[in-house]
Amino acid sequence: MTAGPTREFFDSVRFISNPSTGKMGYAVAIEAARRGHDVVLITGPVDLLPPDGMKVIHVLNAGQMLEACVAEFHASHAAVMTAAVCDYRPARCLPRKLKKRNRPRTVRLLPTTDILSRLAKTKGARVVVGFAMEDHDEHQHAEDKLRRKRCDAIVLNGPGNVGSDDACIQILRHDIGWCAPQSGTKAQMAVVVMDTVEHLLGRPLTVPDNTV
Ligand code: CTP
Repeated sequence: MTAGPTREFFDSVRFISNPSTGKMGYAVAIEAARRGHDVVLITGPVDLLPPDGMKVIHVLNAGQMLEACVAEFHASHAAVMTAAVCDYRPARCLPRKLKKRNRPRTVRLLPTTDILSRLAKTKGARVVVGFAMEDHDEHQHAEDKLRRKRCDAIVLNGPGNVGSDDACIQILRHDIGWCAPQSGTKAQMAVVVMDTVEHLLGRPLTVPDNTV
């Protein structure tokens, strides 16, 4: 699972980022762990406590998130990519604070690697689920992302979900198309996402019953 934003620094104290809080990603990770899955949560900087019962890897920027994802993916059955990864990073990061000179500045940006596409390219039988944050032509953009990023499903969500404890989502699956829209708490939406992951894996995990 990836969660939260990334930060792309252009000097020792300033960065480009976005308002992602990581709530959705953490909720999915917690739900997956509750179902008995072995979870690795790769998280950008957020104000949430690391959940119990899983391996948590803290990263700062898109490059570090890519590295952690590639390292963990080979031993995984599924990847759920909720992180709001910055699409661009400054071409240079100055080692010291850039001083104000009262003149206009430009920051040259370079594209970051699309982590979801990168994992999906080598996925084989593994399941890859992406998220799509859209504020217009939502269905068209989500359908395009599913194809372009070669994932098994895309969870469509909108800017209204950012930072909220609730979310409205609609899942597009590669095999059956659009599912019915769902809304509720992020914990409830995490159940919907994990049901989809398990359907795509073709085998819901059977949690050993230790009761006698
Ligand atoms: N994603 C990723 N690596 C990136 C950018 C995005 O893994 N460098 C993943 C996100 O985690 C998400 C999906 O790609 O699962 C879609 O992210 P989104 O921000 O909706 O789309 P973008 O690819 O950034 O495209 P656009 O900004 O044009 O909508």
